[in-house]
Amino acid sequence: MYEKFYGLTEKPFNTTPDSKFFFPSAKHTEALSSLLYAITERRGFVVITGEIGAGKTTVTRTLLNKLDIATKVALITNTHLTPKELIVQILEELEIEYKPGGKQKLLSQLNAYLVRQLANDVNVVIIIDEAQNLAPKVLEEVRMLSNLETEKEKLVQIILVGQPQLKEKLNNPKLEQFKQRIALYYHLAPLSRQETDEYVRHRIKLAGAGQNEVFTSDAIDMLYSHSRGVPRIINLLCDSALLSGYIYDSKQITEKIIYEAIKEREITHTAESAVSEEKLLQAIYCCSDCKEYASCEIKWIRGTKGEKQACCAKCQSHAQCLKGASKIN
Ligand SMILES: Nc1ncnc2c1ncn2[C@@H]1O[C@H](COP(=O)(O)OP(=O)(O)OP(=O)(O)O)[C@@H](O)[C@H]1O
Ligand SMILES: [Mg+2]
Repeated sequence: MYEKFYGLTEKPFNTTPDSKFFFPSAKHTEALSSLLYAITERRGFVVITGEIGAGKTTVTRTLLNKLDIATKVALITNTHLTPKELIVQILEELEIEYKPGGKQKLLSQLNAYLVRQLANDVNVVIIIDEAQNLAPKVLEEVRMLSNLETEKEKLVQIILVGQPQLKEKLNNPKLEQFKQRIALYYHLAPLSRQETDEYVRHRIKLAGAGQNEVFTSDAIDMLYSHSRGVPRIINLLCDSALLSGYIYDSKQITEKIIYEAIKEREITHTAESAVSEEKLLQAIYCCSDCKEYASCEIKWIRGTKGEKQACCAKCQSHAQCLKGASKIN
């Protein structure tokens, strides 16, 4: 809808883990390199955790594009499974023609396949995304799979990817044996303020707007303080903000517009949030028309296209309010 307005060829802030838009922040790059290293060196068992929306799935999708044809991957994304269902999923993902049967029968067919692949120099990788949902019994099954090895080498590389609860689960003393199997662990942290800025520019550039300064520095500050550098939240806010900018005919996304996007999405402020909501409202929505900077009342109105907008109560008109808005600190 708004792409043309900003000179974009596509929407820059979709919330799908599209590897085309992969932003190689130091953290994402390190996660990716750790995975590549673990796979090529046949390290066996790797765990990647990260906050909700931090980019774990995006990293694994980017990883898939980097693996050569001598690597066969089973990508498991449905993790509400029984141990037997997990084995079936792996067999199917690896396109193994197997004979149905009990879990042991399935496992021995998987084992035979893995031995054949090793003989052919094919590296087999099982990636389990959303691993925080795995039931303890299934985690135990994963541990058993990680035991599949010859005297010299691991037969299969297993990568568990999950939200922070995965780490909590693994800290359970009952899973100590499991934990000891982990060859490499990486926690994907959110982006810094500087990285948030670069991330936004990166996506805008890839979507066709070149080096255009679409987001002001103040807008990035606000974006960062509310998203805490979590890419999915950044995407949601930026997409809303671009739509608002289009509606207001503003090619620059300012902190006012980001603030509205925040309110619209009702993203709760965190304790770390740098500024209180009250201060923000005063800072942003005191319109110079009403001249009541310090006591300007805020109300929500419907904009010309039916959208919800914050507006100075005196002005009664959002367009007017925005035109005359001045920042008070
Ligand atoms: N390094 C990155 N480069 C580009 N986009 C990213 C990056 N990291 C995250 N994103 C974007 O952020 C959004 C969320 O990413 P993703 O789905 O990978 O997060 P996740 O950590 O797997 O989340 P969840 O915990 O819900 O599974 C996606 O739109 C994705 O495109
Ligand atoms: Mg994910």
